[in-house]
Amino acid sequence: MREGFGSKFGVLVALAGSAVGLGNFWRFPYLMGQNGGAAFIILYIAFACLLCLPIFIAEFIIGRRAQQNAHSAFIALHPSKAWGKAGILTILTPFVILCFYSVIGGWSVFYMLKSFTLSFTTTGSQTEIADIFTNFVSDPWTPIVSLLMFIVAVCYIVAKGVKGGIERYSKVMMPVMFVLVLLIAIYSCRLDGAQQGLSYMFRPDFSKLNADVCLKALGQAFFSLSLGSGVIMTYASYVSKGDSILKHSVYTVIADLLFAVIAGLAIMPAVFAFGLEPGSGPGLVFEALPYIFSQMPAGAIVAILFFIALLLAALSSAISQLEAVVAWLVEEKKMSRVRSSVLVSCAATIFAVLCSLSFGVLSDIRIFGMTIFDTFDYVSSNILLTVMSLIIVLFVGWKMSRQDVYDEFTNSGTLAQNVRIFRLIYFLVRYVAPVAVITVFLAGIIL
Ligand code: PHE
Repeated sequence: MREGFGSKFGVLVALAGSAVGLGNFWRFPYLMGQNGGAAFIILYIAFACLLCLPIFIAEFIIGRRAQQNAHSAFIALHPSKAWGKAGILTILTPFVILCFYSVIGGWSVFYMLKSFTLSFTTTGSQTEIADIFTNFVSDPWTPIVSLLMFIVAVCYIVAKGVKGGIERYSKVMMPVMFVLVLLIAIYSCRLDGAQQGLSYMFRPDFSKLNADVCLKALGQAFFSLSLGSGVIMTYASYVSKGDSILKHSVYTVIADLLFAVIAGLAIMPAVFAFGLEPGSGPGLVFEALPYIFSQMPAGAIVAILFFIALLLAALSSAISQLEAVVAWLVEEKKMSRVRSSVLVSCAATIFAVLCSLSFGVLSDIRIFGMTIFDTFDYVSSNILLTVMSLIIVLFVGWKMSRQDVYDEFTNSGTLAQNVRIFRLIYFLVRYVAPVAVITVFLAGIIL
């Protein structure tokens, strides 16, 4: 018998665990602030509902219909060589993401451990604290040891299986992370001068919305929802046939957005309260925040809580990436779960080490002008996710029979709510999504 998730709550935390990750912590708050505040949220929600949700549902349908790993799912539902080949991307994409994601996961491990030594409270000026980061990433060994610790943890959880590993740990990690981020957000919003951060995030500015911002919002939504990575398909294949695909999909989209906003509330008010610039990415989380922690009352404790939360977010996303590849090896190559987890983790480690070194000794190696790390990030986030999403909507909209899609989405007509909105979803998947995805892809390349 194929293993599956044991409960609806298990499905929710696993899917939300995959979606909520580094993307929510270091990209969303900044993107929002830069691109129109509340106007950006409205745009983001519109994209999430009209485009991402249908694609999410399409990916879900393939996975649960086939009850197999992402690659076999395509072959099982439409036995043709071409689609089987396209399915290979569902193995490649999560692997490529895992490689660069583990590097940041490693940074989170290091910063969490460092926060326990209270080093952010003892070291003084802003430049000194920023130097901790610069020295850390350019040093070859410490980041590699950190990423090894991260990958070992990911490997351990996945090797334990779907129910005994992924579901069990997600059930603990996600609620803990939620409480931690919420506590920090409340604390951060009560700091003197927090108001400025809040208006940076939320003040609606519709004049900022343009084609470029639309692209950014969509790119962020895809990455943040783990869309087109084969991960949702893999998790969906473990979901019971009695569950509602619509409910699971809507809950995941809501949870992802909620976390992004709360993470923003935890970060931005504090950034402004201490008069810093809200930069995106590593600079914000690993340089600005540690300095803020060193300045704020009880900052040592907040630092510990924050980096634990960040690590949990990264872990729960990385396990979904590893699982997508492992499921394929277990089912198609008949390898044991433990063996395949170790094998894929070792392979990912090799590339992760290269990505990590590209911040230091290998920083001169450029591929189309990008470092190794940036190449892995760019290729997977901007190309593979979009191409795979297109394949998914074309497959569900044009290759699978309408009846099959209907049966899967409505549990053979037994879910009244799903029956009611089926036509709308099917229309969005069949016509709107492919056109939109192609437009975004081309616009992304041209811009
Ligand atoms: N959604 C995750 C994040 O926001 C990243 C991710 C992408 C996870 C693709 C799995 C697959 O960080």
